[in-house]
Amino acid sequence: MKMTGNTVLITGGGSGIGLALARALLERGNEVIVCGRRADRLTAARTSNPGLRVRVADVADARSRADLLAWIRDSFPRTNVLVNNAGIQRLVDFQGGAAELAKADEEIATNLSAPIHLTSMMLPLLASRSEAAIVNVSSGLGFAPLAQMPVYCATKAALHSLTMSLRHQLRETHVKVFEVIPPIVTSELGANHRPAEVNRAAMPAEAAAAAIVAGLEGDDLEIAIGDAENLRSKRDALFAVMNRS
Ligand SMILES: NC(=O)c1ccc[n+]([C@@H]2O[C@H](COP(=O)([O-])OP(=O)(O)OC[C@H]3O[C@@H](n4cnc5c(N)ncnc54)[C@H](OP(=O)(O)O)[C@@H]3O)[C@@H](O)[C@H]2O)c1
Repeated sequence: MKMTGNTVLITGGGSGIGLALARALLERGNEVIVCGRRADRLTAARTSNPGLRVRVADVADARSRADLLAWIRDSFPRTNVLVNNAGIQRLVDFQGGAAELAKADEEIATNLSAPIHLTSMMLPLLASRSEAAIVNVSSGLGFAPLAQMPVYCATKAALHSLTMSLRHQLRETHVKVFEVIPPIVTSELGANHRPAEVNRAAMPAEAAAAAIVAGLEGDDLEIAIGDAENLRSKRDALFAVMNRS
């Protein structure tokens, strides 16, 4: 798709991959709106990136999603790209009782329910534009789970599946459906429960953003970045072996 002149809403764009992507898209001449829960992070992002539009919103909350969408429709009716990027990652121990379950519910609401609802709510606006896209940010961990974060990995596997179905349903429309599959990237997510050497080897968020922009520009509908490509291709190869006939 063309990578200039778009109006892009990035959820969770106040930090990490979302903010790096917002910067890259601003540099390419796009209008970029980011949302998140922490007003201070959004204000800091706007201050260091003139032109960036920001909005406090909790995508896991139905009322907040409705407010966000009403504001987008009123203030940015030319919005043609939705990036479902907001995500959280929790360690969940199934033997830990009710407190663990609360973490699981929060992860499902943010990582899976929010993209489902936002996609559905934004679709009429996106479909009214001559070129539009929905970009879902999943994870290499959707293809090979880490057992210490079982719900996170399950939400990302579900987002992968959902993205395939959405792409099929929208195949006759102007709305392209992309999946971004990042590897381990330097950000606030997960850094405090990864070994130091793994954090040191993480991909910088700016490099991940550059790969996303290149993938969108090249119409690569499954943008698997760095080591995540390995996780995906091994599973795909195994699937092909198991389903030869
Ligand atoms: N970093 C990695 O290694 C990695 C690898 C694979 C996939 N990913 C995926 O990449 C995406 C971006 O993550 P990141 O690595 O850039 O981490 P990050 O820096 O923690 O960014 C996540 C963003 O989501 C926002 N967010 C969380 N819950 C939200 C909610 N309910 N409503 C609105 N915004 C919310 C956070 O802001 P607030 O807290 O202010 O709301 C934050 O800005 C996530 O979907 C993540 O799963 C990351």
